[in-house]
Amino acid sequence: MPTKPSPKAAGAEENPPAPKPAVALEDLPGIGGITADKLRENGYTDLMELAVASPGDVAEAAEIGVAIAQRIIGEARRKADVGGFESGTTLLERRKKLGRVTTNSKALDELLGGGVETQAITEFSGEFGTGKTQIAHQVAVDIQLPPAQGGLSGEVVYIDTESTFRPERIVDMAKGVGIDPEEALSHIHVARAFNSNHQMLLVQKAQELAREKPIRLLVVDSLTAHFRSEYLGRAELAPRQQHLNRHLHELLRFSDTYNAAILVTNQVSARPDILFGDPTRPIGGNIVAHAATYRVYLRKSKPPKRIARLIDSPNLPEGEAVFSLTTEGIRD
Ligand code: GTP
Ligand code: MG
Repeated sequence: MPTKPSPKAAGAEENPPAPKPAVALEDLPGIGGITADKLRENGYTDLMELAVASPGDVAEAAEIGVAIAQRIIGEARRKADVGGFESGTTLLERRKKLGRVTTNSKALDELLGGGVETQAITEFSGEFGTGKTQIAHQVAVDIQLPPAQGGLSGEVVYIDTESTFRPERIVDMAKGVGIDPEEALSHIHVARAFNSNHQMLLVQKAQELAREKPIRLLVVDSLTAHFRSEYLGRAELAPRQQHLNRHLHELLRFSDTYNAAILVTNQVSARPDILFGDPTRPIGGNIVAHAATYRVYLRKSKPPKRIARLIDSPNLPEGEAVFSLTTEGIRD
């Protein structure tokens, strides 16, 4: 997991070197092609995932006995690059490579401490029409700008779960910041996720892409919609949260490995227990709260204005930013 920066480490505007190809599941003793396929279908795509899995889960996924599962996990632990301890010096070096990308609104950038950060998850939540998808489009364009103009000369993986990605909006926004629209579109790699498992699988696919292209932003719009519709009722809350947790950790791992920004959107649900103040809160509760470094809550104001507020941020001052949704994109 830890990226080992070379002494002359890549700057924030460059992509880190691609990690060495993982050992295939088939390379483990006791795993044949069929078992490997079953494991992959269930989201165990590399040794690390097996190494940290529970025997019961692996047995169920691969339809094998628990004892065999245990042996496979043991092998995976021996072979996987499980990472280990990093010195404070290495961590500081890594922090120095943090990049930031503009949202095209000075106020919103300031609220975020200078823009959307790499090596972190930034969540935009709010009711329908508050601008979550518009911000995702805008940052997908802005990340392509050179660093001097607020970007990271990067490309984008865009996981679209609600079929709301609009190339036409990218064209408008690219024109708005002076990027060739065709070029902007060619740097955004979009995939529709049909359900939550597919959504998670696409993060694995994104890693393959990131080994070839300078992916510096991964968007998931929306993070929670599939999870919410697939797991209904109180009894399913725990498995839903477990699944979502795994997804978020894979996203975090992606952000670390490729020094990429992760931008997720999230709906809000009603809080029946609140009588005063805002009666809504983002889906996913404490799971998302723990994984997301920056949580921005959006609400509507006098059109076309929107108000952004930072929630649960330990290291940034509380505050609000006002921005506008225009045809050219996000503006102050
Ligand atoms: P949900 O996904 O439904 O939860 O909403 P959201 O928060 O993603 O909302 P979204 O980002 O789609 O914002 C929709 C709003 O953006 C619209 O109500 C418009 O105000 C604005 N908008 C979208 N497209 C355009 C456009 O082409 N021109 C202008 N001027 N505004 C637009
Ligand atoms: Mg949306």
